[in-house]
Amino acid sequence: MDSMLKNIAQFTLFFSIGVVIFAFAGYENHLSSYQNSDSNAIPETLEEALLILGDEKPIHYIATADPDSVRMGMEMVYYGQLLDESNDPISKYFVCTDCHNQVLESANPADESADAVLEHSMTNNIPFLPASTFYSMYNKRHWYNGDYYKKYGDLVAPTRDSLYNAIQLCATQCSQGRAMDHWEIRAVLHYYKSLELKINDLVFTEEEKQQLGNWIVNDKTSAIALLKTKYNDTNPATFGTNKTPEVPGYEPSAKNGEYIFTMGCLHCHDPQTGITNFTMDNDPLTLRYLYRKKDKYNNMAVQHITRYGTYAMSGRKQYMPMYSFEKLSEKQMLDLLHYLKVGGHDN
Ligand code: HEC
Ligand code: HEC
Repeated sequence: MDSMLKNIAQFTLFFSIGVVIFAFAGYENHLSSYQNSDSNAIPETLEEALLILGDEKPIHYIATADPDSVRMGMEMVYYGQLLDESNDPISKYFVCTDCHNQVLESANPADESADAVLEHSMTNNIPFLPASTFYSMYNKRHWYNGDYYKKYGDLVAPTRDSLYNAIQLCATQCSQGRAMDHWEIRAVLHYYKSLELKINDLVFTEEEKQQLGNWIVNDKTSAIALLKTKYNDTNPATFGTNKTPEVPGYEPSAKNGEYIFTMGCLHCHDPQTGITNFTMDNDPLTLRYLYRKKDKYNNMAVQHITRYGTYAMSGRKQYMPMYSFEKLSEKQMLDLLHYLKVGGHDN
């Protein structure tokens, strides 16, 4: 009884005070704030809260992230290998951050729609990428969902319930690299643990906070259920086709399109980033060139390349990941095309 009372008091306290949110902006920033954080009795993470309420542990459960493993995982994610080069690069072609962000991509984790992500990204200058963010990857329960079986076939089966296996699949298939060792995957899992959802990331109305406070005392099942409406435990994926979208009444936005092109396409295609050999820029000539290819049924048509990506082939292992509808909406495709048209002065 005593400990239950203590939990309730802690929870109530937790929801009434503001907890300082980590600054996730950069590598240094994140690491130093992570190492300085002292262990706190108040549940700070979503997982701690769920476990106190009696929810089940995930298969990849980690009680506390080990700072050294977090650092090693982070180095592999950002640089493809440990900074002291004591292991081999995971991939010759990519590092994880080429395709995955490391921060929350939407203002409310319950809404990770492409439109919510674009809005939040534009406010916070976050790259607009085809793969899911690593922030909250720890809190997901199924991976390579929806249409990804169409791309990777039977390879996705072992990843559907296992984050460990999902990391391995991405290292070898998406990154076109080598299989990762057990300790390497473990380090990445610890790094993910450091990027798990904090209660403070979730968005509650005042009524919901009160309701939650009551349920924590009286009805733990409902409390768990309410917490679970505040984030998604999967990244769904629906693949599109090269058809130019028709969204009746929608006025495309050149500003959105410019952002998608600059912080999405150029994230990989800018000569500065050196991620691909196929380079592009915001020069009107480039934009006009792309716009004029839009009705071709090949990789140079923006709708085609964006929805299908390219495939890795032997001898040419760099490939472009596709944007599912969840990562780039039909409206956003129209925004992108509109930007190419206006930016290329092709009216
Ligand atoms: C070339 C792009 C690319 C690179 C590089 C890459 N990934 Fe991925 N990854 C993807 C895509 C695309 C998906 C499937 C869509 C998604 O993320 O929701 C994916 C999926 C995943 C998933 C499952 C996500 C989910 O919710 O289904 C994990 C875990 C993952 N990658 C880990 C990694 C790790 C770790 C690395 C670095 C070692 C890495 N990825 C490098 C593109 C990439
Ligand atoms: C995660 C990195 C990444 C992102 C983001 C990305 N691309 Fe690519 N793209 C690639 C790679 C890798 C290739 C293949 C380059 C090669 O084969 O040398 C490619 C190829 C292309 C090609 C040439 C296809 C061909 O067959 O020659 C076009 C056109 C293209 N991308 C357009 C886009 C557009 C438009 C966007 C934004 C909607 C975009 N890319 C976003 C990585 C990316």
